[in-house]
Amino acid sequence: DTAGDVPFDNPLAVPPLDEGDLRGGARNFSLDAEAGETPIKPGKATPTWGFNGSYLGPTLRARRGDDLRFTVRNHLEETTTVHFHGAHLPADCDGGPHQAIEPGGSWEPEWTVDQPATMLWYHPHPHGNTARHVYRGLAGLILIDDDVSDGLDLPREYGVDDVPLVVQDRNFDGDNALEESETWTSTTGIIGEDVIVNGTYGPYFEATTRRLRLRILNGSNARVMNFAFDDDREFLQIGSDGGLLTEPHRTRRALLSPAERADIVVDLEPGETVVLRSLPVEDVGVGSIFKRFNGMDDRLDVLQIRAADELADSPEVPAKLAEIASLSDEPAAERSFRLAGFSTINGDSMDMNRIDFGAQVDTVEEWTVRNTDEYHHNFHVHDVQFQVASIDGEAPPPPLAGWKDTVFLEPNRDYRLRMRFDQYTDPDLPYMYHCHILFHEDFGMMGQFVVLGEGE
Ligand code: C2O
Ligand code: CU
Repeated sequence: DTAGDVPFDNPLAVPPLDEGDLRGGARNFSLDAEAGETPIKPGKATPTWGFNGSYLGPTLRARRGDDLRFTVRNHLEETTTVHFHGAHLPADCDGGPHQAIEPGGSWEPEWTVDQPATMLWYHPHPHGNTARHVYRGLAGLILIDDDVSDGLDLPREYGVDDVPLVVQDRNFDGDNALEESETWTSTTGIIGEDVIVNGTYGPYFEATTRRLRLRILNGSNARVMNFAFDDDREFLQIGSDGGLLTEPHRTRRALLSPAERADIVVDLEPGETVVLRSLPVEDVGVGSIFKRFNGMDDRLDVLQIRAADELADSPEVPAKLAEIASLSDEPAAERSFRLAGFSTINGDSMDMNRIDFGAQVDTVEEWTVRNTDEYHHNFHVHDVQFQVASIDGEAPPPPLAGWKDTVFLEPNRDYRLRMRFDQYTDPDLPYMYHCHILFHEDFGMMGQFVVLGEGE
């Protein structure tokens, strides 16, 4: 067990909000990947990487229907990429390993946002080096709004009552440098003993409203987090990876594996202090040795929330949120995926020159995904948001009943996922599916598919 005694003496950093430049009918964003130094723990500053700054990147905000244009520049000394995790976009804009940006180079993807309001994120995806690049600090958030979210009375003032939390575990050495290679010893890669939120160590947030919306990203490389409050209070989960749920889900826990998001709303009393934590992961079928190795028995303090003595009123969370049409079409294809070891799906490791299959555009597919190990994996698919149709034949619990792009895989269960491939086709340029434990991803637990147009 670790932490528990975090001082909470640093105000939570909130990533700068960037709504882009409106030019030429598009929303234009610039992202510069660069090296720098960031004061994180007391003492020396930590050498880090970031976008438009030394750690993490701006929160980009856009609306459904917007044309987005990016200029991404790589000022690092090694090749990287910028992947838009959870975004529906053409394969050449995906930012996976095939869209490498050389040192000194740049890349200019553009596409039209066509997906529900949610929080996505962006991070590097260079072949074999994703873990290290993300660990050093390259990641940022994307908020998407739409008519549905505009029509709901939800907290929405960025950094005031709608606060993003990029939660990451990290290890620091005696000079406050990030420890990288020497700790890649468990079955998952690095498990950090310290938690930072938006790059802040020991953070507190001063709340000024009765209801606080937290958009949580588990931005860790490997650690599964089980979010809860220290007094075990209930909160509402209103959204998952790819959008709002159909209705608020009242709960005391939000389990997020790396890359998953939860949109939650918590009620506050004037003058109170409450701590967001990550608790030991409850029973998920992972062998106890692996649970211990992989930090699943840890209790970690995440964020202290200090409510002001007078809190501004917030509206009730609406009882109905988004409509989600279930993907009930007869699947055009059924596929199955077995994750095994640190590095294989269906017995193969990632090969950038191998395309595993083609999906037909405008069809729904059903993928059955199974983790055959005694420790955990998760599963992420590019380009789509999927629905979890069932887990071992049972309906998914409410947090998994909305749009997802990443799902935690308990050992030896069948996760049936349904997804529709819309709009973008390219017979040659693939999208990826993979485990988002970054150490596994880099070791090859990843495959590639293309979306084929009619008659291809
Ligand atoms: Cu968040 Cu293929 O990645
Ligand atoms: Cu894995």
